[in-house]
Parts: sequence; C-alpha cells; structure tokens
Amino acid sequence: MGRQITISCFRFNPNIPGDKPRMQDYKLEEYEGMTLFIALNDIREKLDPTLIFDFVCRAAICGSCAMLINGRPRLACKTMTRNLPSHFTVMPLPVFKLIGDLSVDTGKWFRDLQMRTEAWIHTTKKFDFNALEVRMDNKIAEEIYEPERCVECGCCVACCITANIRDDFMGATGINRVCRFIIDPRDERSDAEYFEVVGDEGGTFGCVGLMACDDMCPMELPLQENLAFVRRKMAGAGLKLTFPGVKL
Ligand code: SF4
Ligand code: FES
Repeated sequence: MGRQITISCFRFNPNIPGDKPRMQDYKLEEYEGMTLFIALNDIREKLDPTLIFDFVCRAAICGSCAMLINGRPRLACKTMTRNLPSHFTVMPLPVFKLIGDLSVDTGKWFRDLQMRTEAWIHTTKKFDFNALEVRMDNKIAEEIYEPERCVECGCCVACCITANIRDDFMGATGINRVCRFIIDPRDERSDAEYFEVVGDEGGTFGCVGLMACDDMCPMELPLQENLAFVRRKMAGAGLKLTFPGVKL
C-alpha cells in the first residue's frame, strides 16, 4: 500500500459570483510513478470534478502545467510526488492573470511579450520561394537552439522579484528571447535597435540580480549567462547612443 498524501489546493473561481479564495485539502493514496499531474487528475476524476488546472503534453514540453508547488514554481507533470512531503500545497503562479484555481493565463502574457520583443527575424532580404535553403553553421545553430528550448511555462517570471512588483518587466524569458535574435546572423537589427526594445528598466536593466529565474527554470536554460550577454551589449549600445563617437 502506498503512502497517504494530502494536497492542499488553492481554490478560487473569479467567474463564480461570491466565490472566496481558500485552501482545500484532498487526501489520496500515492502509487509508483505518480507525478503531481497524475495526482491532480485523480482528484478531478475521483474526488472533485470542479478543480481547474492546465495541461497539454504531460511531458514537460508545452509549459502549461506550471504552478507553485510548496511555494516553488515547477511543472506538475515533471514533479514526482515521492519527492514531496506527505502534506504539501499547490497554488497558481503569481504575476499572471488567474483563470481559476491553479490555472493562469500565460498565453496572453507571452503573446504580448513576442510583440514587445519583436520576436521574428528582421531582414531587408526578399524571400525567394525558389531558392535553395541556406546552410547554417552548426555551432551557430546550436547556440540559437539553446534559448529556443524555452517552453514558456512562466516559472522564471513567477519567482522574479522584479516581475512581481513591476508590471512592465519582461522577465528572464523576454531577455532570453532577445538573446536568441541577437545571436542569429539572419537578423539585421543593430545593437541600437535592440536597445530600443530591451535597454531600459522594463528590460535588461530592471533585473536586480537575484537570479531565482536561473534556479527555477525547469528546462535549465542558462538564463544568468544570457542576461549578462544581453546586458553587456546594451550597456555598450547605451554608451554609444549617449556619447556618440565613444570607442569601446
Ligand atoms: Fe519556463 Fe525557463 Fe522559459 Fe522561463 S525561461 S518560461 S522558466 S522554460
Ligand atoms: Fe505540458 Fe506539463 S503538461 S509541460
């Protein structure tokens, strides 16, 4: 027989008039290979069909199931219950708009971020449908692939002190996005143009350096390194814009 576990879930549905935020305990028996995602599914199927939470892939690919698990932002489908105490809490990610219970709207946040960082290749070259694909150097392709592994789960944003107090801060994931385009040789934007996007306190200079994002990213992206890279570039661009002709 497996261990008895108690999951204290945050409950609040803003769409139900008069509903109040509260914690609700669910008791269930743990079994081999149980992830938090499986446990929440069991609760919904056997104990309480009203519990709201998100998932799509169940394999740490889509980023939908991020939540605060015992106070730390993590993916429910990548968290084994056996690695948690027998009584633990689950809450929705802060910063994002609450949909209900454990579900938040990360989609709108990330869509706005894509627009704000202009997350597409900027080039003056005309697209030629008949041309052969141009080969990219393997090393550069691998460097671009690294920040591309972001699954847009929002864990880095939820644990970020700046994102929790400033609505306009794009968070580590936004800076990671900009980093991806800076290293892509197909993007023709200058550092001065990137400075317009990320060179202020809503971007790379808003980070206070606590680096919880780097600790919490479930994909183990090198967020600290990427931030330092973008910040160095933007500091140089800022100096050149302020003191034209300065040699760096
Ligand atoms: Fe999630 Fe990591 Fe992407 Fe942040 S950088 S959204 S923690 S995968
Ligand atoms: Fe897709 Fe967890 S369900 S990351």
